[in-house]
Amino acid sequence: MISMRILRFDRWVTAVLLLSVWMAGMGKASACSVAWEFPELLPPGYEDRLETHSPAGDGMEPLSTGTLTPVPVTIDPLGAPPDTPWTVFVGTLNVRNEPSTRGGSTTVVGSLSRDSLVTGDYFVVEESDEEWIRFVQGDLVRWISRTGVTRPHPANVAAIAEHGDLPIGPEIVNRWWAVPIDYEPSDLVTIPSIYTNNVSGRIYLLREEARDAVTAMIDAARADGIDFRVASPYRSGERQTSIYLNNVSNNLAQRFSAPPGHSEHQLGTCVDFSRGPTGPFLRTSDAAWQWLDVHGADHGFVQTYTADNIDETGYIEEPWHWRYFGAPEFPVTLSAVPAEGGTVSGGGLVARNSETVIAAAPAPGFAFVGWTGDVESAENPLTLTVTGELTVTAQFMDAFEAGRLAGRREVIEDPSDFGLHTADSIQDLRMGGLLLRADGQEGVRLELILETSSDLVEWQPLESVERQLPLPPDKTFYRVRAAPVETP
Ligand code: DAL
Ligand code: ZN
Repeated sequence: MISMRILRFDRWVTAVLLLSVWMAGMGKASACSVAWEFPELLPPGYEDRLETHSPAGDGMEPLSTGTLTPVPVTIDPLGAPPDTPWTVFVGTLNVRNEPSTRGGSTTVVGSLSRDSLVTGDYFVVEESDEEWIRFVQGDLVRWISRTGVTRPHPANVAAIAEHGDLPIGPEIVNRWWAVPIDYEPSDLVTIPSIYTNNVSGRIYLLREEARDAVTAMIDAARADGIDFRVASPYRSGERQTSIYLNNVSNNLAQRFSAPPGHSEHQLGTCVDFSRGPTGPFLRTSDAAWQWLDVHGADHGFVQTYTADNIDETGYIEEPWHWRYFGAPEFPVTLSAVPAEGGTVSGGGLVARNSETVIAAAPAPGFAFVGWTGDVESAENPLTLTVTGELTVTAQFMDAFEAGRLAGRREVIEDPSDFGLHTADSIQDLRMGGLLLRADGQEGVRLELILETSSDLVEWQPLESVERQLPLPPDKTFYRVRAAPVETP
């Protein structure tokens, strides 16, 4: 076991030297910034976790290639096509005849330029925990360092093509799968400084929904006497590239820094929390972490990298790193217009992505016309799949007017042609139902409208109309109008 996987000056010097060898090997000419950025460094006190998952040998000394054991990583919980290609994101990436480790040299047999696509298998070298991609070129087996490639998941690419911004929650981002490096959500907004650790010059951005969720969550924590702050929110793919390459320069076997495209921070829904405005990153022993552990999920936040899922995620435990998967439930707010037009039922708090039924019941003399607001539909009752907050209004209308509009005819209104009947007088016509009869003139149509909450409209191209209709059970009065209209 080694103890070099933390940032220490002597190791750093070694790392820089090795990096220059490695980068020269990759043909990457640009200088790598040495401005390590808190909090992307491994926080002090976590070396043990890293060592546990980096079963390497003796410090940064290159290992003899003859002794290496590349082990295929078969983890693919997501079922993506195995031939999904890796994309080279560095300027030039050396192709080797076998894996090397810690900057050790093996034979360079070619190179790949930026944006080259390679279909190959993922290996971890047991002795060093460094990762390599094996692929076949002609009849020959070739290797490239994983530190120079990224792999957008086809589902992410398809969702971006369809929606522009990825829907929040199902995005697929981990060590093996990425979003395109140039993906940037369009709805990034600033986090007010009272919620951040205010590092000078840092711009704190998140997608709007995640920003609102994190500020509400911090407010709730403060009400409980707990303070934690956003220390690292959205990071662009470009920014992640520089952070990753810096971290790789210290340790090729990265287990706390994501390659570009593979960081949840690029989703704009993920945050690293610090303990208070100036405190260090959260640890599980912090009261703030314990508060999050209990309440985070209520606000849609989940600690992505835990001690239990290291094999699935490929990263060490990160108690400070929380991703927003979307609110667990949303309010569905219903109202009626006009208020006396009827009542609505359903709504309230509904679990994310679940179905709920809303219904409108018109008051006597009114008809239900349709739902407006976040939902446009005339269906009643209506089943909704809830993926966000909804405000919906049931539109009611004077029943006669509603029927007239539903008929989509212009009525020539001549009050003398209208007959008005009370419920009692109509009921008298036929047991158990309504017999409606009206006489018209040659060359006109009759519009026969039964004004009830059932919004019934009958059209007959006849000079007289006679209809047997079921009697709506819950009405206090009915009004029948027969109006002549022009023949279309
Ligand atoms: N530290 C996490 C893995 C990231 O770099 O996104
Ligand atoms: Zn993080």
